Amino acid sequence: MAPEGSLGDPRYSARVITAPYAARPLADGHLIDLRDVVKDYHTEAGPFRALKEVSLQVDAGEFIAVVGRSGSGKSTLMNMITGIDRPTAGSLVVGGTDLTRLNESRIAEWRGRTIGVIFQFFQLLPTLNVVENVMLPMDFAGLWTPRERHERAMHLLELVGMVDQARKLPAATSGGQQQRTAIARSLACDPPIIVADEPTGNLDEVTAEEVFELFESLVEGGRTIVMVTHDHELALRTRRTVHMVDGRVSDGTLDAAVRA
Ligand SMILES: Nc1ncnc2c1ncn2[C@@H]1O[C@H](COP(=O)(O)OP(=O)(O)OP(=O)(O)O)[C@@H](O)[C@H]1O
Ligand SMILES: [Mg+2]
Repeated sequence: MAPEGSLGDPRYSARVITAPYAARPLADGHLIDLRDVVKDYHTEAGPFRALKEVSLQVDAGEFIAVVGRSGSGKSTLMNMITGIDRPTAGSLVVGGTDLTRLNESRIAEWRGRTIGVIFQFFQLLPTLNVVENVMLPMDFAGLWTPRERHERAMHLLELVGMVDQARKLPAATSGGQQQRTAIARSLACDPPIIVADEPTGNLDEVTAEEVFELFESLVEGGRTIVMVTHDHELALRTRRTVHMVDGRVSDGTLDAAVRA
C-alpha cells in the first residue's frame, strides 16, 4: 500500500480521478489502431522516413511501454497517436475516430476529450503559472466550473507533489518539477488514454516510482497508457513492451525488447 499522501495513495486517486468520458473502442476492441503508418519528414537533404509502415494495436485497459534507441521514431509515433502530427500514409483510428479524416481544429477538440499528453519536453505555457497550466485543458474543454477547475488542478498537483509550487511560472521550477506539472496537466480532463513520452526522464528514483504507481492506479481504473521510456526496469513492469528500431515496431517479448 502506498504511503498516505503519496501519489499512490488510493484516497487521492479516488477523489481526483473520476471519469466523465468512457473510452470509445472500435467494435473489434482495438482502442488504438495504426495500420501501415508511414511518416516522412521533409529535410534539406530530401524526405526522411521516420516511420516505416508501422502497425500497432492497443486495446482498452492496456499499459504498454515503448522502448528503442534515440532517433528510432518513438516521439514521432506518439505524435501520430495523439494527432499532433499527420501520417504521410496509412490508417490511424484512435478511440473509434479516424484521425486522417479530421481537420486540425476538430483534432484538437477530439484530443482534449480523449488523450492526456505528456510531452518529452513538457510544452508548458511559459506565461501561465503552474496551476494555470494544469487548468488550461479544462478551460478549453469547457469542463467543470472555473472554481472546480482550480480545485481539481490543485488536487492533481497534490498527486504529483507540486502544490507548494502552484503559483510559480514554469521557468522558475526545476526540470523534474516541470515534468510533474506536465503529468498533472495530462490528467486534467480525466482522459481515457494517456500518452506519455519519457514521463520519468527528469525524475529521481523515488519520484519516478511514485509516478509509475500513479500510472498503475490509472490503468487499474480502466485507463489506457502508452509510455515511452528509456528506463528498462519500468518497461519490464508494464504488461507489454513495444520495441522501435529505425522507424519500425516489433512487438516482442519483454526480454527481447530489453536485451536489444
Ligand atoms: N521535424 C523533423 N524534421 C526532420 N526529421 C525529424 C523531425 N523530427 C524527427 N526527425 C527525425 O526522425 C527520427 C525519429 O525522431 P524521434 O524524435 O521520433 O526519435 P525518438 O525515438 O523519440 O528519439 P529520442 O529517444 O532521442 O527522443 C530521427 O532520425 C529524427 O532526426
Ligand atoms: Mg523522443
